[in-house]
Amino acid sequence: MKVWTVANQKGGVGKTTTSVALAGLALEQGLRVLMLDLDPHGSLTSYFGQDPDRLEKGAINLFMAREKISPSLVKTNLLPTRYPGMTLLPASTALATLERKTVGQGGLGLVVKQSLAAVEDEYDLVLIDTAPLLGVLMINALACCDELIIPVQTEFLALKGLERMVNTLNMMFRSNKRQVSYHIVPTMFDRRTQASVSTFHTIRHDYPEHTWPGRIPIDTKFRDASKAGIPPHLYEPDSRGVDAYRSLYKWLCRLPGSRSIADTYTAGGAR
Ligand SMILES: Nc1ncnc2c1ncn2[C@@H]1O[C@H](COP(=O)(O)OP(=O)(O)O)[C@@H](O)[C@H]1O
Ligand SMILES: [Mg+2]
Repeated sequence: MKVWTVANQKGGVGKTTTSVALAGLALEQGLRVLMLDLDPHGSLTSYFGQDPDRLEKGAINLFMAREKISPSLVKTNLLPTRYPGMTLLPASTALATLERKTVGQGGLGLVVKQSLAAVEDEYDLVLIDTAPLLGVLMINALACCDELIIPVQTEFLALKGLERMVNTLNMMFRSNKRQVSYHIVPTMFDRRTQASVSTFHTIRHDYPEHTWPGRIPIDTKFRDASKAGIPPHLYEPDSRGVDAYRSLYKWLCRLPGSRSIADTYTAGGAR
């Protein structure tokens, strides 16, 4: 089982879209995919037609029962989706109360890691969608991932946010003594605007080792797919946006830490 976390301290940059798109493409390859919503707003949860305000299931229960994490506890908090092979660990609105409920308590940083370990044999790939907040949830999402994906909108304002994010990551890595390989993904690229093109080049120039060589174009189909609650690759398989995510997916699978997924990929996803 491999774990990919999608994060950025900035909202509206394409985190949820990236999580769903990559999860869908992994499913297309025959992988068993678990999507984990760690954003108290529950955008990923809503994407799959669930109402975060009404859900009793969800990640909050893992934190509340953290002394007793077991395969059955994790499984009772999962929801199937309309797509066989694609499972959701949802976020209920209660997740927003986590920091308040656990103030001053220790031992919270590895709850997600332990929960995923409990169902390790059931999934090939876990995609974690996060909120643009630093806190317990982000620490958990970083502590358990093999790869960190940072979607960055190609616009001037995003550069400052990216710098802040990378600084924060380096600080966290130092204090946790754990390095995670991170990959910047330029999103919402619009080749007709100067701001987009120049931001794209700046990102590649400033973070050459950490930037995926491609870019995700601006594509209205993503919004339509999300409104319809359908993973992008099924909603519009040949759209430019899905094509771009497909090359991102292949690229991620070939990273040293994700080779076991690459094997599935080369085998044409036969399972
Ligand atoms: N490449 C894209 N082109 C056009 N719209 C996009 C693209 N990626 C995401 N969107 C739209 O932008 C909005 C914010 O994206 P989202 O993935 O929810 O960001 P985040 O999770 O970072 O807040 C959503 O309405 C989504 O449908
Ligand atoms: Mg989101």
